[in-house]
Amino acid sequence: MILSTWLAALTIVAAPLQVMAAKNHDFKLCQQQSFCRRLRGIADRASKDEGFTSPYSLLPPVPNKGGSAGASWTFPMKTSLYKDVEFELQLDILEQGDGIARIRVDEVNSNLSWKRYNETSKWALLEAEPARADLSSVTEKTSQGGKVNTFNYGASGDLSLEIRHEPLLITFKQGGETVMIINDRNLFHMEHFRRREDFFFEENNENDTIESAIDGAEGDQVVLSPTGKEKEKVDTKWFEGEPDKDAFEERWKTWADAKPKGPEGFSVDITFPGTEHIYGLAEHASPLSLRSTDGSAEGTFSEPYRLYNVDIFEYEADSPMSLYGNIPMVHAQTSKHSVGVLNLVGSETLVDVKHPKSGVQTQWMSESGIMDLFILPGPKPKDLFRQYAGLTGYTPIPPLWSIAYHQCRWNYLDQHDVLDVNRRFDEEDIPLDVTWLDIEYAAEHKYFDWDKKQFPDPVKMQNEVGALGRKMVAIVDPHIKKSDNFRVYKDATEKDIITKRNDKTSNFEGWCWTGSSVWVDFFNPKSWDWWTEMFSFKVWEDSTKFLYIWNDMNEPSVFDGPEISMPRDNVHYGGWEHRDVHNINGATFQKATFDALLERESPKKRPFVLSRSFFPGSQRYGAIWTGDNMGTWEHMAGQTAMLLSLNICGMTFAGADVGGFFGNPSVEMLIRWYQAGAFMPFFRAHAHIDTKRREPYLFDEPYKGIMRDTIRLRYQMLPVWYTAFHEASLSGAPTMRPQYAMFPEDSLGFAIDDQYYIGDSGLLVKPVTAAGVEDTVVYLSDNQPYYNYFSHRVYPASKRSRHVKVPTPLETFPVLLQGGYILPIRARARKASTLMWRDPFTLIVAVGADGNASGRLYVDDGDSYDYESGQFVWREFKLDGSGKTSTLSNHNLATGDQAAGDLVKFSPSSGPWAEGISTVQVEQIVVLGLKSKPTSVQASGTDLEWSWVAGSSASTGSEGDASKLTIKNPKLKIVDDWSITL
Ligand code: GLC
Repeated sequence: MILSTWLAALTIVAAPLQVMAAKNHDFKLCQQQSFCRRLRGIADRASKDEGFTSPYSLLPPVPNKGGSAGASWTFPMKTSLYKDVEFELQLDILEQGDGIARIRVDEVNSNLSWKRYNETSKWALLEAEPARADLSSVTEKTSQGGKVNTFNYGASGDLSLEIRHEPLLITFKQGGETVMIINDRNLFHMEHFRRREDFFFEENNENDTIESAIDGAEGDQVVLSPTGKEKEKVDTKWFEGEPDKDAFEERWKTWADAKPKGPEGFSVDITFPGTEHIYGLAEHASPLSLRSTDGSAEGTFSEPYRLYNVDIFEYEADSPMSLYGNIPMVHAQTSKHSVGVLNLVGSETLVDVKHPKSGVQTQWMSESGIMDLFILPGPKPKDLFRQYAGLTGYTPIPPLWSIAYHQCRWNYLDQHDVLDVNRRFDEEDIPLDVTWLDIEYAAEHKYFDWDKKQFPDPVKMQNEVGALGRKMVAIVDPHIKKSDNFRVYKDATEKDIITKRNDKTSNFEGWCWTGSSVWVDFFNPKSWDWWTEMFSFKVWEDSTKFLYIWNDMNEPSVFDGPEISMPRDNVHYGGWEHRDVHNINGATFQKATFDALLERESPKKRPFVLSRSFFPGSQRYGAIWTGDNMGTWEHMAGQTAMLLSLNICGMTFAGADVGGFFGNPSVEMLIRWYQAGAFMPFFRAHAHIDTKRREPYLFDEPYKGIMRDTIRLRYQMLPVWYTAFHEASLSGAPTMRPQYAMFPEDSLGFAIDDQYYIGDSGLLVKPVTAAGVEDTVVYLSDNQPYYNYFSHRVYPASKRSRHVKVPTPLETFPVLLQGGYILPIRARARKASTLMWRDPFTLIVAVGADGNASGRLYVDDGDSYDYESGQFVWREFKLDGSGKTSTLSNHNLATGDQAAGDLVKFSPSSGPWAEGISTVQVEQIVVLGLKSKPTSVQASGTDLEWSWVAGSSASTGSEGDASKLTIKNPKLKIVDDWSITL
């Protein structure tokens, strides 16, 4: 049917959105906070002064023997602004991760008793102090600019860091080429600890108010040394600017931030010479390739990218504003190299980006903490993925059911509703794995306590859903209702594990869904075992093994707090202020819940926890989603770029609310959302409480059928997704891969963020994100034919990158199979993924330009940890078309030498799953693009049943329907080695 007919038949009209824009006034701009104003001000002054230089310099380094086989170097560091203030720069090269350099700067020997927060790495990294490599090879030379130490390192010794002492400059080289420079623009600054009177004060005028001190400040500041004895006049204004009256106490709207430690921000500039594109800084609703933030031209932002986890509610579709989680990392890409940097800081961080011709420049500005930079050396995107995962952790293989289809809304009303939704899916033959319960399941939003009026028997309900092979997820938010008859509140107060106000002793109270609430401090080790108990079946009697958890609002969201969050001067375990750890906070909650679910059953099952907030390392604990998006085309289009950014930042298990959280999408838009969602790593439909019900079964044909087919497509492709997740668990490579990551030599693809590849499967997908679209143009970088997954049309190989036009009436969208790949799917979609484990496979072979193809398949029982002891199937299929006849083979990858780590060979007799899988067959093989009709198709000398449709081959130069060889029921097992000659 053509699109106009579809459109004429659309029955649901898009309703206007309730709210169209984020409430910008709830969130601060850089100018509205003193640390950002001060640190950004340095860049302003630098840009106006040609002679601007860094006040920071280093003294000769001192070797630190650290660990058993390692060395690191410490450079004493000085600033000409404050003669008595001392810093240290420590350089480590990490043993694992192919030469990651770690550069830390902290203030030392202050006579004030404060310390900068230095525990971020404890939360984010696999090991807070990763082992160091030997760094004994250092040279020192004196050049024009002063002394320079050069450190050579890396597996082949082709990496180097040149550290110039005065003024401070750090140059990172790959193979002799400069790819990253730190402090190139002289914007490094670490605001040292000082007393209020030292900051503002003028000599002999100790009783001045802050205001009069500022008014009276002229030119130079009078500075007390930390010892308070000597006084010296040093001009600091050229660098630090005017004294800032908000440095020690800051007000915003009705809130006051006491800032007991005063100013302690830091800034660092990092330049990527020769680079036009940098990526990262998830999570933002903005293009994958980061824009300039200097407002210099159309298409640039005028605010820095902000990393400060907030509950933004209705966010803008194209903005550098902060969202719910953050990964302070960028990748810089040229057609020759990739390099990355992770700035591991838990306090608010803002990043300015500029794109001069010479290469991208960035300035990072953080509110507090030590500077802890990790230089990921690349030299290709896939190396960056591995290096980052080696440092912060790999995404574990999720439970298989958790990458199937999830049906959520705020809210399913009662027990009956939940079971009815399951029944309706079954009646309409639409696959479903998980039904979700939002906050209304809990009496007065006291999570854990079911509203027994609506859910009189939660255990029965969960068991009934479980009997269908399905799961449920219920929400548990971090705000705890302040109510003495709520056991969770009582426990938490008795254990004294609640986040404190700035007086360090009274519990912080704020407002959230539950009304007046408190927040458990998950930085406090005392909270961990207690939280684990909360989820044990004994304590949470209304939970079963079919129930998993959704952690929302963990930025944390505090409705009556500054920026809808916690006051920054709240106090956490160890005396740290909330400002120091704000960006880590949400991750500690998801981790605690993950750890709790892990302990629930024996033998252990893989937990599933969805979180809204995240930080580096969160990928170890479950999935995340892009929060409260809107049911608009603009938002749908933007989600692809957001998800790609999350994926390259290590957060691969990510999705977006299918349908859009706010609003009532037209059925056309809803179908397009489903098509996009079916190719998101986490596939969940969700909607706001005020929206109309929109479960796919509610629609008339043909719309219902299209949604059904789309969800089924996801189920057919579950082996592809599972294999992609398995690969992510070993290599760190994301399941959604942007064009630049696939083809790092093709700079024409560097800005593309509306299409992507699924793992290493060869599948290329481009969601349709506009109304009335009949064709969609897809960009192809490589010299391979591409096959339309639905129509089997072939788009020919070409030496040059090119665009192809794919017909995309409503029932279809671009899903292309790259020549050279073999795709294992399960063609029969069942009611739930758990019912498909013994179903046969179909192999789709997309013959490559050279006549060859290959593909991988990983399968295991989908929810236990038995794969750690060898209970898995890992196969590689290969088409060798180099000879006269072609051979298609299946061989085992799960052997000691092939497997990364300690994987063990699959042993078919060692359990019910292994026995079950050992009989599973390949039921069909479809070979697209063979040059000529085979004369025979045989396996081990036996003729197989096959059919042939003539058509274009992989080497045909023009578009046409691909030739198709179909091998029917070859009676070959998926776990066996075999080969077929064609
Ligand atoms: C937040 C979540 C949303 C959820 C709602 C109620 O807005 O982002 O997904 O439905 O809270 O819990």
